[in-house]
Amino acid sequence: MTKRAFSAFKPTGHLTLGNLLGAIMPAVRLQDEADCVYAVADLHALTVKHDPGRLRARTLEAATLLLACGLDRSLVYVQSRVPAHTELAYLLESTAYFGEMRRMIQFKEKAANQEEVRVSLLTYPALMAADILLHRADLVPVGEDQRQHVELTRDLALRFNRLYGETFTVPEAVHPQAAARVMDLTTPTAKMGKSDGSDAGTIYLLDSPADIRRKIMRAVTDSGTEVRHDPGEKPGVSNLLTLLAVCSGRPVASLAFPSYGALKRETAEAVVETLRPIRERHAELSADPAEPARRLEAGAAAAAERTADLMAAARRAIGVL
Ligand code: TYM
Repeated sequence: MTKRAFSAFKPTGHLTLGNLLGAIMPAVRLQDEADCVYAVADLHALTVKHDPGRLRARTLEAATLLLACGLDRSLVYVQSRVPAHTELAYLLESTAYFGEMRRMIQFKEKAANQEEVRVSLLTYPALMAADILLHRADLVPVGEDQRQHVELTRDLALRFNRLYGETFTVPEAVHPQAAARVMDLTTPTAKMGKSDGSDAGTIYLLDSPADIRRKIMRAVTDSGTEVRHDPGEKPGVSNLLTLLAVCSGRPVASLAFPSYGALKRETAEAVVETLRPIRERHAELSADPAEPARRLEAGAAAAAERTADLMAAARRAIGVL
Protein backbone atom coordinates (compact mmCIF):
# COMPACT_ATOMS: atom_id res chain seq x y z
CA MET A 1 0.00 0.00 0.00
CA THR A 2 1.20 3.53 -0.71
CA LYS A 3 2.65 5.11 2.40
CA ARG A 4 1.47 8.46 3.65
CA ALA A 5 3.80 11.33 4.53
CA PHE A 6 3.12 14.47 6.54
CA SER A 7 5.26 17.37 7.70
CA ALA A 8 4.76 21.02 8.61
CA PHE A 9 6.66 24.30 8.83
CA LYS A 10 6.20 26.96 11.47
CA PRO A 11 5.99 30.53 10.10
CA THR A 12 7.82 32.15 13.02
CA GLY A 13 10.24 33.71 10.54
CA HIS A 14 11.36 33.43 6.94
CA LEU A 15 12.13 29.86 5.85
CA THR A 16 15.85 29.03 5.93
CA LEU A 17 18.41 26.86 4.20
CA GLY A 18 18.19 24.59 7.27
CA ASN A 19 14.46 24.06 6.63
CA LEU A 20 15.17 23.38 2.96
CA LEU A 21 17.94 20.82 3.37
CA GLY A 22 16.68 19.25 6.59
CA ALA A 23 13.04 18.80 5.66
CA ILE A 24 11.72 20.43 2.46
CA MET A 25 14.04 18.62 0.02
CA PRO A 26 13.42 15.23 1.67
CA ALA A 27 9.69 16.06 1.53
CA VAL A 28 9.98 16.84 -2.19
CA ARG A 29 11.72 13.48 -2.78
CA LEU A 30 9.03 11.59 -0.85
CA GLN A 31 6.47 12.74 -3.42
CA ASP A 32 7.80 9.99 -5.73
CA GLU A 33 6.89 7.21 -3.34
CA ALA A 34 4.25 8.42 -0.87
CA ASP A 35 0.91 10.16 -0.67
CA CYS A 36 2.12 13.51 0.72
CA VAL A 37 0.46 16.22 2.78
CA TYR A 38 2.36 19.31 3.95
CA ALA A 39 1.16 22.24 6.02
CA VAL A 40 2.21 25.63 7.25
CA ALA A 41 1.79 25.27 11.01
CA ASP A 42 0.55 28.77 11.81
CA LEU A 43 -0.97 27.72 15.16
CA HIS A 44 2.50 26.61 16.25
CA ALA A 45 3.73 30.15 15.69
CA LEU A 46 1.39 31.35 18.48
CA THR A 47 3.46 29.58 21.14
CA VAL A 48 5.86 32.53 21.40
CA LYS A 49 5.39 36.31 21.28
CA HIS A 50 4.09 37.22 17.81
CA ASP A 51 2.75 40.03 15.68
CA PRO A 52 -0.58 39.16 13.96
CA GLY A 53 0.10 41.06 10.72
CA ARG A 54 3.56 39.59 10.37
CA LEU A 55 2.24 36.09 11.09
CA ARG A 56 -0.30 36.41 8.27
CA ALA A 57 2.38 37.60 5.84
CA ARG A 58 4.89 34.90 6.84
CA THR A 59 2.22 32.19 6.60
CA LEU A 60 1.45 33.11 2.99
CA GLU A 61 5.12 33.49 2.17
CA ALA A 62 5.93 30.06 3.65
CA ALA A 63 3.08 28.38 1.79
CA THR A 64 4.10 29.98 -1.51
CA LEU A 65 7.72 28.96 -0.85
CA LEU A 66 6.75 25.34 -0.20
CA LEU A 67 5.09 25.28 -3.61
CA ALA A 68 8.08 27.05 -5.17
CA CYS A 69 10.44 24.44 -3.67
CA GLY A 70 8.60 21.72 -5.56
CA LEU A 71 5.91 20.49 -3.17
CA ASP A 72 3.39 21.02 -5.95
CA ARG A 73 2.48 17.35 -6.24
CA SER A 74 1.29 17.30 -2.61
CA LEU A 75 -1.70 18.50 -0.72
CA VAL A 76 -0.55 21.80 0.82
CA TYR A 77 -2.60 23.90 3.24
CA VAL A 78 -2.54 26.14 6.30
CA GLN A 79 -3.04 24.25 9.57
CA SER A 80 -5.50 26.68 11.21
CA ARG A 81 -7.91 26.29 8.27
CA VAL A 82 -8.61 22.71 9.37
CA PRO A 83 -10.14 22.78 12.88
CA ALA A 84 -9.65 19.03 13.39
CA HIS A 85 -5.98 19.77 14.25
CA THR A 86 -6.95 21.56 17.45
CA GLU A 87 -9.81 19.18 18.16
CA LEU A 88 -7.51 16.17 18.04
CA ALA A 89 -4.80 18.08 19.93
CA TYR A 90 -7.12 18.30 22.92
CA LEU A 91 -7.73 14.57 22.92
CA LEU A 92 -3.95 14.07 22.83
CA GLU A 93 -3.37 16.60 25.63
CA SER A 94 -5.71 14.37 27.56
CA THR A 95 -3.49 11.39 26.72
CA ALA A 96 -0.11 13.03 27.42
CA TYR A 97 1.42 13.58 30.86
CA PHE A 98 2.67 16.88 32.24
CA GLY A 99 5.99 15.19 33.10
CA GLU A 100 6.77 14.12 29.54
CA MET A 101 5.74 17.47 28.05
CA ARG A 102 7.89 19.37 30.56
CA ARG A 103 10.90 17.25 29.62
CA MET A 104 10.85 18.15 25.91
CA ILE A 105 14.22 19.71 25.01
CA GLN A 106 12.72 22.49 22.87
CA PHE A 107 10.30 23.45 25.64
CA LYS A 108 13.09 23.61 28.20
CA GLU A 109 15.35 25.66 25.92
CA LYS A 110 12.68 28.11 24.80
CA ALA A 111 11.06 28.47 28.22
CA ALA A 112 14.44 29.24 29.78
CA ASN A 113 14.84 32.29 27.49
CA GLN A 114 11.51 33.94 28.29
CA GLU A 115 9.80 35.48 31.27
CA GLU A 116 6.26 34.96 30.04
CA VAL A 117 5.95 31.38 28.85
CA ARG A 118 2.71 30.69 26.99
CA VAL A 119 0.88 27.51 28.02
CA SER A 120 0.77 26.56 24.34
CA LEU A 121 4.57 26.30 24.34
CA LEU A 122 4.21 23.41 26.79
CA THR A 123 1.32 21.72 24.96
CA TYR A 124 2.78 22.33 21.47
CA PRO A 125 4.01 18.72 21.00
CA ALA A 126 0.43 17.46 21.46
CA LEU A 127 -0.68 19.71 18.58
CA MET A 128 2.24 18.47 16.49
CA ALA A 129 1.27 14.87 17.30
CA ALA A 130 -2.30 15.71 16.25
CA ASP A 131 -1.02 17.11 12.93
CA ILE A 132 0.75 13.84 12.17
CA LEU A 133 -1.80 11.36 13.54
CA LEU A 134 -4.75 13.14 11.91
CA HIS A 135 -3.30 12.23 8.52
CA ARG A 136 -2.40 8.65 9.52
CA ALA A 137 1.12 9.45 8.37
CA ASP A 138 3.64 6.62 8.18
CA LEU A 139 6.57 8.92 7.38
CA VAL A 140 7.45 12.32 8.81
CA PRO A 141 10.32 14.09 7.03
CA VAL A 142 11.97 16.36 9.63
CA GLY A 143 15.35 17.68 10.73
CA GLU A 144 17.17 16.28 13.73
CA ASP A 145 15.70 18.87 16.13
CA GLN A 146 12.19 17.39 15.71
CA ARG A 147 13.25 13.81 16.48
CA GLN A 148 12.07 13.98 20.09
CA HIS A 149 8.67 15.38 19.13
CA VAL A 150 8.11 12.54 16.65
CA GLU A 151 9.16 10.06 19.37
CA LEU A 152 6.53 11.59 21.66
CA THR A 153 3.97 11.32 18.85
CA ARG A 154 4.73 7.60 18.64
CA ASP A 155 4.36 7.21 22.42
CA LEU A 156 1.01 9.04 22.41
CA ALA A 157 -0.31 7.01 19.47
CA LEU A 158 0.67 3.73 21.15
CA ARG A 159 -0.80 4.81 24.49
CA PHE A 160 -4.08 5.96 22.96
CA ASN A 161 -4.36 2.73 20.95
CA ARG A 162 -3.69 0.65 24.06
CA LEU A 163 -6.18 2.54 26.23
CA TYR A 164 -9.00 3.04 23.73
CA GLY A 165 -8.45 0.60 20.86
CA GLU A 166 -6.52 0.73 17.56
CA THR A 167 -7.08 4.24 16.21
CA PHE A 168 -3.78 5.77 15.10
CA THR A 169 -0.99 4.78 12.73
CA VAL A 170 2.36 4.89 14.55
CA PRO A 171 4.60 7.18 12.45
CA GLU A 172 8.31 7.17 11.80
CA ALA A 173 10.63 10.17 11.41
CA VAL A 174 12.65 10.39 8.19
CA HIS A 175 15.91 12.34 8.47
CA PRO A 176 18.15 13.25 5.53
CA GLN A 177 21.50 11.45 5.40
CA ALA A 178 23.41 14.72 5.47
CA ALA A 179 22.10 18.11 6.62
CA ALA A 180 19.71 16.82 9.30
CA ARG A 181 21.16 19.65 11.38
CA VAL A 182 22.45 22.64 9.43
CA MET A 183 24.44 24.90 11.72
CA ASP A 184 24.48 28.70 12.10
CA LEU A 185 27.27 30.21 9.99
CA THR A 186 28.50 32.53 12.73
CA THR A 187 28.00 30.07 15.62
CA PRO A 188 28.56 26.66 14.04
CA THR A 189 27.86 24.90 17.32
CA ALA A 190 24.22 26.11 17.22
CA LYS A 191 21.43 25.18 14.83
CA MET A 192 20.61 27.55 11.96
CA GLY A 193 17.12 28.78 12.92
CA LYS A 194 14.35 31.12 11.67
CA SER A 195 13.83 32.90 14.93
CA ASP A 196 16.55 31.82 17.34
CA GLY A 197 19.68 32.15 15.18
CA SER A 198 21.59 35.24 14.11
CA ASP A 199 20.71 37.01 10.85
CA ALA A 200 24.34 36.96 9.70
CA GLY A 201 24.56 33.23 10.35
CA THR A 202 21.25 32.30 8.72
CA ILE A 203 20.60 31.96 5.00
CA TYR A 204 16.97 32.63 4.12
CA LEU A 205 15.49 31.04 1.01
CA LEU A 206 14.70 34.46 -0.43
CA ASP A 207 18.13 36.02 0.27
CA SER A 208 19.74 37.67 -2.77
CA PRO A 209 22.85 36.05 -4.30
CA ALA A 210 24.91 38.96 -2.93
CA ASP A 211 23.62 38.33 0.62
CA ILE A 212 24.26 34.60 0.33
CA ARG A 213 27.85 35.17 -0.85
CA ARG A 214 28.50 37.72 1.89
CA LYS A 215 27.14 35.47 4.65
CA ILE A 216 29.12 32.45 3.49
CA MET A 217 32.37 34.37 2.92
CA ARG A 218 32.06 35.69 6.50
CA ALA A 219 31.18 32.29 8.00
CA VAL A 220 33.19 31.42 11.09
CA THR A 221 35.78 28.77 10.32
CA ASP A 222 38.01 26.95 12.74
CA SER A 223 41.61 27.25 13.87
CA GLY A 224 44.19 25.66 11.59
CA THR A 225 44.02 25.66 7.80
CA GLU A 226 43.17 22.09 6.88
CA VAL A 227 39.82 21.51 5.15
CA ARG A 228 38.36 18.27 6.51
CA HIS A 229 34.98 17.00 7.70
CA ASP A 230 35.20 16.66 11.48
CA PRO A 231 32.15 18.19 13.23
CA GLY A 232 33.69 17.78 16.71
CA GLU A 233 37.02 19.51 15.97
CA LYS A 234 35.99 21.65 12.98
CA PRO A 235 32.30 22.53 13.24
CA GLY A 236 32.47 25.56 10.92
CA VAL A 237 34.36 23.85 8.09
CA SER A 238 32.28 20.68 8.44
CA ASN A 239 29.07 22.69 8.14
CA LEU A 240 30.30 24.34 4.92
CA LEU A 241 31.39 20.97 3.51
CA THR A 242 27.93 19.56 4.25
CA LEU A 243 26.21 22.53 2.58
CA LEU A 244 28.42 22.17 -0.48
CA ALA A 245 27.93 18.40 -0.66
CA VAL A 246 24.14 18.60 -0.46
CA CYS A 247 23.80 21.62 -2.76
CA SER A 248 26.13 20.20 -5.41
CA GLY A 249 25.09 16.55 -5.11
CA ARG A 250 28.67 15.41 -4.47
CA PRO A 251 29.68 13.18 -1.52
CA VAL A 252 31.59 14.95 1.27
CA ALA A 253 34.47 12.48 0.87
CA SER A 254 35.06 13.69 -2.69
CA LEU A 255 35.56 17.33 -1.65
CA ALA A 256 39.12 18.64 -1.26
CA PHE A 257 40.25 22.27 -0.97
CA PRO A 258 43.63 23.94 -0.49
CA SER A 259 42.17 26.70 1.72
CA TYR A 260 39.12 27.87 3.65
CA GLY A 261 38.68 30.68 1.11
CA ALA A 262 38.40 28.25 -1.79
CA LEU A 263 35.88 26.13 0.13
CA LYS A 264 33.79 29.21 0.91
CA ARG A 265 33.77 30.46 -2.67
CA GLU A 266 32.58 27.14 -4.04
CA THR A 267 30.01 26.66 -1.26
CA ALA A 268 28.60 30.14 -1.87
CA GLU A 269 28.12 29.42 -5.58
CA ALA A 270 26.50 26.03 -4.92
CA VAL A 271 24.04 27.59 -2.45
CA VAL A 272 23.28 30.49 -4.82
CA GLU A 273 22.51 28.01 -7.62
CA THR A 274 20.35 25.84 -5.36
CA LEU A 275 18.25 28.80 -4.25
CA ARG A 276 18.04 30.58 -7.62
CA PRO A 277 15.18 28.50 -9.14
CA ILE A 278 13.26 28.64 -5.85
CA ARG A 279 13.50 32.43 -5.69
CA GLU A 280 12.46 32.70 -9.33
CA ARG A 281 9.50 30.37 -8.92
CA HIS A 282 8.45 32.21 -5.76
CA ALA A 283 8.45 35.50 -7.68
CA GLU A 284 6.30 33.96 -10.43
CA LEU A 285 3.81 32.55 -7.94
CA SER A 286 3.68 35.81 -5.98
CA ALA A 287 2.88 37.77 -9.13
CA ASP A 288 -0.56 36.19 -9.03
CA PRO A 289 -1.26 35.65 -5.31
CA ALA A 290 -4.83 34.54 -6.02
CA GLU A 291 -3.47 31.27 -7.43
CA PRO A 292 -1.52 30.07 -4.35
CA ALA A 293 -4.44 31.29 -2.18
CA ARG A 294 -6.83 29.18 -4.22
CA ARG A 295 -4.56 26.14 -3.93
CA LEU A 296 -4.36 26.57 -0.15
CA GLU A 297 -8.13 26.80 0.21
CA ALA A 298 -8.62 23.71 -1.96
CA GLY A 299 -5.90 21.97 0.08
CA ALA A 300 -7.66 22.81 3.36
CA ALA A 301 -11.00 21.54 2.05
CA ALA A 302 -9.40 18.29 0.87
CA ALA A 303 -7.53 17.89 4.19
CA ALA A 304 -10.75 18.39 6.16
CA GLU A 305 -12.49 15.80 4.05
CA ARG A 306 -9.81 13.15 4.23
CA THR A 307 -9.31 13.49 8.00
CA ALA A 308 -13.00 13.41 8.97
CA ASP A 309 -13.08 9.61 9.42
CA LEU A 310 -10.02 9.53 11.63
CA MET A 311 -11.36 12.37 13.76
CA ALA A 312 -14.69 10.58 14.17
CA ALA A 313 -12.88 7.35 15.11
CA ALA A 314 -10.77 9.15 17.73
CA ARG A 315 -13.86 10.80 19.25
CA ARG A 316 -15.67 7.49 19.40
CA ALA A 317 -12.69 5.67 20.89
CA ILE A 318 -12.12 8.17 23.72
CA GLY A 319 -15.80 8.26 24.57
CA VAL A 320 -17.12 11.70 23.64
CA LEU A 321 -20.51 11.77 21.99
P1 TYM B 1 10.29 24.22 12.18
O1 TYM B 1 9.30 25.13 11.55
O2 TYM B 1 11.17 24.77 13.25
O3 TYM B 1 11.22 23.61 11.06
C1 TYM B 1 10.66 23.03 9.90
C2 TYM B 1 11.47 21.82 9.51
O4 TYM B 1 12.81 22.20 9.22
C3 TYM B 1 13.72 21.44 10.01
N1 TYM B 1 14.85 22.29 10.38
C4 TYM B 1 16.14 21.98 10.16
N2 TYM B 1 16.72 20.91 9.57
C5 TYM B 1 18.07 20.91 9.48
N3 TYM B 1 18.85 21.92 9.94
C6 TYM B 1 18.31 23.00 10.53
N4 TYM B 1 19.08 24.00 10.98
C7 TYM B 1 16.89 23.07 10.66
N5 TYM B 1 16.04 23.99 11.18
C8 TYM B 1 14.80 23.48 11.01
C9 TYM B 1 12.93 21.01 11.22
O5 TYM B 1 13.48 19.88 11.83
C10 TYM B 1 11.56 20.77 10.63
O6 TYM B 1 11.49 19.48 10.06
N6 TYM B 1 7.27 21.66 15.17
C11 TYM B 1 7.79 21.78 13.83
C12 TYM B 1 6.72 22.07 12.81
C13 TYM B 1 5.63 21.07 12.82
C14 TYM B 1 5.70 19.73 12.34
C15 TYM B 1 4.40 19.18 12.56
C16 TYM B 1 6.72 18.96 11.75
C17 TYM B 1 4.37 21.28 13.27
N7 TYM B 1 3.62 20.15 13.13
C18 TYM B 1 4.12 17.86 12.19
C19 TYM B 1 6.42 17.65 11.39
C20 TYM B 1 5.14 17.10 11.62
C21 TYM B 1 8.79 22.90 13.79
O7 TYM B 1 8.81 23.73 14.64
O8 TYM B 1 9.57 22.91 12.69
